[in-house]
Amino acid sequence: MTIAIVPDDAAYDAALEAVLTDAFGPGRFAKVSERVREFGLLDRTLSRVALQGAAPVGCCRIYRIAVGATPALFLGPLAVAPHAQGERLGAALVEAALAACDATATHAVLVVGQPRMFAPFGFVEIPAGRVTLPGPVEARRFQWRAIGEGGLDGLAGAVSAPRAAS
Ligand SMILES: CC(C)(COP(=O)(O)OP(=O)(O)OC[C@H]1O[C@@H](n2cnc3c(N)ncnc32)[C@H](O)[C@@H]1OP(=O)(O)O)[C@@H](O)C(=O)NCCC(=O)NCCS
Repeated sequence: MTIAIVPDDAAYDAALEAVLTDAFGPGRFAKVSERVREFGLLDRTLSRVALQGAAPVGCCRIYRIAVGATPALFLGPLAVAPHAQGERLGAALVEAALAACDATATHAVLVVGQPRMFAPFGFVEIPAGRVTLPGPVEARRFQWRAIGEGGLDGLAGAVSAPRAAS
């Protein structure tokens, strides 16, 4: 399978909707992460799409958010079409998106997801009570990874919409 990983583009939206529905199944919109994406700002330049030929088969999207008043990023949805899973594509998408995130003037990338998937990229559980989401999540699934030296220092508060261009 020859795959290219490219920045996100609105032209992929319809195909990616189908990938997301196939990967997550029904109930996808009930997730707390979806509440964050309602007020977060999708950054297509940081988000990555996997193309098999011309067909999108996966994505790792990045939204701009704030934690308290500090600029941060929110990873997801991360999905790979069922027929393309298990071939390191998910990991490659996360790696490519994080490389782009590391070049931003933000402080951290947050995610709600499986620690087994995200620990290899340096994500760790967010200390209890430090950051609040617009709904309950299992504590071990709510993780972050610093951007730059001391990115997590003093970072605390509610996840909310980004304040301004960051
Ligand atoms: C999760 C998902 C994106 C992984 O994509 P993939 O291309 O199959 O994953 P990879 O082949 O890159 O696997 C990378 C690592 O993640 C692990 N992994 C894969 N799917 C996983 C899952 N659902 N939960 C936890 N870990 C998972 C793999 O075991 C592998 O770990 P290893 O390095 O120890 O072997 C894909 O299975 C998917 O779309 N699932 C449905 C949607 C979903 O659950 N998204 C993630 C939300 S956190």
